Amino acid sequence: LLTPNEMGNIMEANEKMGKCNTSNRTIIAWVEEQAKLCQPDEIFWCDGSESEKVLLTAEAVDKGILIKLNQEKLPGCYYHRSNPNDVARVEQCTYICTETRDEAGPTNNWAAPKEMYQKLLGLARGSMHGRTMYVVPYLMGPLGSPLTKVGIELTDSIYVVLSMRIMARMGDVAYKHLGNRDDFNRGLHCMLDVNPERRYICHFPQDNTIISVGSAYGGNALLGKKCLALRIGSYLGRKEGWMAEHMLILGVESPTGEKTYVAAAFPSACGKTNFAMMIPPAHFKGWKIWTVGDDIAWMKPGPDGRLYAINPEAGYFGVMPGTNYKSNLNAMKSIQKDTIYTNVALTPDLDVWWEGKDGPPPKECLDWRGNKWTPESKEKAAHPNSRFAAPMINNPMLAPEANDPSGVPISAIIFGGRRADTMPLVFQAFNWIHGVYVGATMGSEMTAAAAGTLGQVRRDPMAMLPFCGYNMGYYFHHWIIMRKLIKYPPRIFHVNWFRKDANGEFLWPGFGENMRVLKWIVDRCKGRANANETPLGWVPGPESFDLGGLEGYTPEKLSQAQTINYEDWRRELLQQDELFMKLYSNLPKEMIFQRELLVSRL
Ligand code: GTP
Ligand code: MN
Ligand code: MN
Repeated sequence: LLTPNEMGNIMEANEKMGKCNTSNRTIIAWVEEQAKLCQPDEIFWCDGSESEKVLLTAEAVDKGILIKLNQEKLPGCYYHRSNPNDVARVEQCTYICTETRDEAGPTNNWAAPKEMYQKLLGLARGSMHGRTMYVVPYLMGPLGSPLTKVGIELTDSIYVVLSMRIMARMGDVAYKHLGNRDDFNRGLHCMLDVNPERRYICHFPQDNTIISVGSAYGGNALLGKKCLALRIGSYLGRKEGWMAEHMLILGVESPTGEKTYVAAAFPSACGKTNFAMMIPPAHFKGWKIWTVGDDIAWMKPGPDGRLYAINPEAGYFGVMPGTNYKSNLNAMKSIQKDTIYTNVALTPDLDVWWEGKDGPPPKECLDWRGNKWTPESKEKAAHPNSRFAAPMINNPMLAPEANDPSGVPISAIIFGGRRADTMPLVFQAFNWIHGVYVGATMGSEMTAAAAGTLGQVRRDPMAMLPFCGYNMGYYFHHWIIMRKLIKYPPRIFHVNWFRKDANGEFLWPGFGENMRVLKWIVDRCKGRANANETPLGWVPGPESFDLGGLEGYTPEKLSQAQTINYEDWRRELLQQDELFMKLYSNLPKEMIFQRELLVSRL
């Protein structure tokens, strides 16, 4: 821990630290205006340097916002406990503020921009008294990519600043990318009193502005992530001819060195981070999976007619429970240094623990609320949505292409949800439009990643229900239009790792074994694997799906996982109708046709 004296020395050694470090007049004027509103005691301009990190970390520790973990075991790692009322995204407090209600659509909360600005400015006014306002410039995307966007987040949370450092390319690099332009995203984040009654996450797409108050949770407060990269991003994508999606990106390398890139959309806490970091089982000798991104993809047609994707982020904000050396080795390796752990359990020797970590639970520790916990306790030690924030460079299987400004060409898009029944392990859509329908009608059981009823199936089109920054009907239309802009469209697939048998056991082992499904998908893209036609789409023929080396797993179990139960599907179609009726007036007619085709095939 630095003494105040040492902190002073760092400041003195670098007398520019914290001072204004841009000559962009639009930025300076905007920061001044916001400071006048929030009235912080100080403004601290971040530059992203190492010495700045040392200083801010020491200050966070000093104030009790971070706890320094056991540096022998976990060098550079820190622990944070959130306010117990602030542990997940809150969809009921998330608003899209467009001129008309129609632009936001029936799946978003809408508010008139003028009224919402007034309410938020009222809350922000004077709210930083006695606090510091940090100016956090950041890039979403690699430096120099035509897809990259600049954001500036003003925040009075040092936890947010240190998390943004991990999750985005933060600091001077953003000013460098922006130059004298003024098309940066304006983000204002105020902690207020962290009260759910005064919690608003508001997007003003037409002003490229985000205002978030009353929460420090990643998805609500790290404005580059869900707010800019998905909600504002999807709005800009529609305007500018690209796509912002809730998708991981991975590269499959064959033993001969052939690389195939795949993007996959699964709802929150449904396996993106796990899939993006997957390690193929021993049977797949010489195969490698490289991670490009684990949560967000920005995709645009390239000059060669293929769809190219970048990961706008620079870190992983991953679900902690269930992460262990067996389920996700690369994630475990990624969180051994320079990581912020939030809402896990803290052991007496300043190590961290969570449900599903390797080894036995600690005999005694403090739970995520800071209360004493023993293995006999009824409550969970770590919050189900406890998270790690780790720099992507820690990942031993980080694809070098993650920093490539032109991105990677996508051969397959995979949709998937968490479904105990109905949905088979894998099928391939007949064509792009059918694939859009499959994505648009996705359903998934709710998880702890957002406040809501656990386990209940809800429609989550393209895993974008909480993240689409405009009318979902227009969004489907945009997907259909994109087909015309892509000469060689990716093939589209649907997977479900979560189907259960009558005893409630998973019908598919999942995790690394998902390589078997992925291999079939890659082979389909290369025209190497055959498939059988079903009412839902193409499914693997038994000879083209590799079960080799999978002890105790039988072809019968696989066909159980692949079963199409007609009664289930009649119920499924009724549930899909609920969403379609909601969107009715803006639903592309292609979706209705696809529905009718499916009905007739069934
Ligand atoms: P966000 O980061 O919130 O967008 O979620 P995510 O999609 O990255 O979810 P993540 O990979 O963290 O998965 C979270 C949950 O899914 C954990 O409970 C995992 O154990 C479980 N999970 C992931 N992959 C599999 C799988 O193949 N099979 C089964 N049964 N569970 C899985
Ligand atoms: Mn996510
Ligand atoms: Mn994730």
